[in-house]
Amino acid sequence: MIVKSAEFITSAPDLKRCPPAQWPEVAFAGRSNVGKSSLINCLLNRKGLVRTSSTPGRTQLLNFFAINELFYFVDLPGYGFANAPKSVRKSWQPMIHGYLSGRKPLHAVVWLLDVRRDPTAEDLLFLDWLEEFGLATIPVVTKIDKVSRNELGKRLAIIAAKTGLDPEHFSTFSTLKGIGREDVWERIEDVLSESSVEGLPASD
Ligand code: GTP
Ligand code: MG
Repeated sequence: MIVKSAEFITSAPDLKRCPPAQWPEVAFAGRSNVGKSSLINCLLNRKGLVRTSSTPGRTQLLNFFAINELFYFVDLPGYGFANAPKSVRKSWQPMIHGYLSGRKPLHAVVWLLDVRRDPTAEDLLFLDWLEEFGLATIPVVTKIDKVSRNELGKRLAIIAAKTGLDPEHFSTFSTLKGIGREDVWERIEDVLSESSVEGLPASD
């Protein structure tokens, strides 16, 4: 994908205040601190477009980015942040559930898991929602620079077993090393082309 333009559009606190449904959307979801914002920046080759942080729970709204004036990327607030204020934790579930179930242009969810962590109950609940709403899911194991090659195979097997997904179905990613960028773009483009987005430029 040649990224000609990537522009922050708005932060929405709920489904009602999302921008008009003019383009298809791909959302990025996962535990807080798993690397969602970093992965989006890496895909877009824009270091500071999406705010990243070592403080979990930083992204607390639905953040919309217009890509090539053709589709949206939506950076979703992470779940599982133990230190976030109670009010934030309470509002997360209806916000995300409402968005996933009610947002018509949502075509796919890139679902991130940290290679070093076993999927949590919240991860599995989130996966249930994706299945319940019939959303195309692109599972990605992130931060693979943190483990050895040998360890990676073992971790993938555990994560696949716990989620019930095929290990082959996971893309592996490292924003630090730029690993997985092409693969994830290809999967996103596949979903968007199935949804007949006109004028998608060829992959670079
Ligand atoms: P919230 O918005 O709080 O939900 O977090 P997030 O999922 O958007 O995570 P973010 O992209 O802010 O990254 C969290 C931390 O992980 C930052 O310190 C990043 O630098 C780091 N990080 C992200 N991706 C990678 C990676 O592939 N490898 C390594 N080593 N660190 C990463
Ligand atoms: Mg974030």
